[in-house]
Parts: sequence; C-alpha cells; structure tokens
Amino acid sequence: MPDRRRFLAGALALFSARPALAAGSAIHVVKDPGCGCCSAWIAILEAEGFAVTAENRGAAALQQHKVQSGVPLEMASCHTAHAGGYFLEGHVPPREIRRLLAERPSGRGLAVPDMPWGSPGMGPEAEREAYNVYLVGTDGRAAVFAAYGAA
Ligand code: CU
Ligand code: CU
Repeated sequence: MPDRRRFLAGALALFSARPALAAGSAIHVVKDPGCGCCSAWIAILEAEGFAVTAENRGAAALQQHKVQSGVPLEMASCHTAHAGGYFLEGHVPPREIRRLLAERPSGRGLAVPDMPWGSPGMGPEAEREAYNVYLVGTDGRAAVFAAYGAA
C-alpha cells in the first residue's frame, strides 16, 4: 500500500522533526526579580510558542551573567536570555529569535540595547520608537540584524 507507506513516512518525519524544533525553541531567561517588562517579554514569547524557563538573580549576579555571556556593555538591557547557544539580550522580537535559530549565523547572540519603547514587552507597538536588533559577532562587534522603524 504505497499510500499508507507514504503516510507513515510523513508521520515519522513529522515525529522526528518535533524534538529538534522543541529544543530550538527553548529559551532560558535570567532576570531581576522586580522586572515587570521582563515578565511581559516572557509572556509574549510563550504566546508565540516558545518554551520559556526563567530564573531571578540580583543586580550584581545578573550583571556578572551578562559579562560571562559575552554581552558587550553598550548592548546591555534588562534580562539576559539564552536560546540555541546564543544570548538574547533585552526585548528581542520573537520573529528575530526565529530567524536567528533558523539561519544560525556565526556570533554570540542578539541584543536590543536599553529598553526601546514599543519593543515587545515595552508598551504598545503602535507607539514604537525606532530601534535596532543587533547581532553580536564572536569578536564582540555588533552589526544591525534588523531595523524597526518608528510606528
Ligand atoms: Cu525590560
Ligand atoms: Cu527584561
């Protein structure tokens, strides 16, 4: 029965693709316990289908975590997350995380420095101020990965 075999092959492919997809979409967030915008960003990621785990650390430990993760000082924001071997610093939009994990460029990770108003978790997108998402290279240099214009 070729049809049945094809169906089984399709089902198997789907099944074997799932664990890889799940592993790639897992995000671990390290944040300050009092950070409200961090929680807002996490809620958006969860709504977008990412499997998010979060951990609170005090200011000094969080700062140390950023340094250990290779986040350049000028790229720093509130939370520091990790996904697929990359860091995610600040309010990185879910679509850029998906692009990062799909394209897997060489580099340490993505950063949205500071906390631009209208970035995911930072107020309404309709009031967005212009901001860039940076890809931080293995040498620590930042290049624009995506540019978001003002709303
Ligand atoms: Cu924030
Ligand atoms: Cu945050």
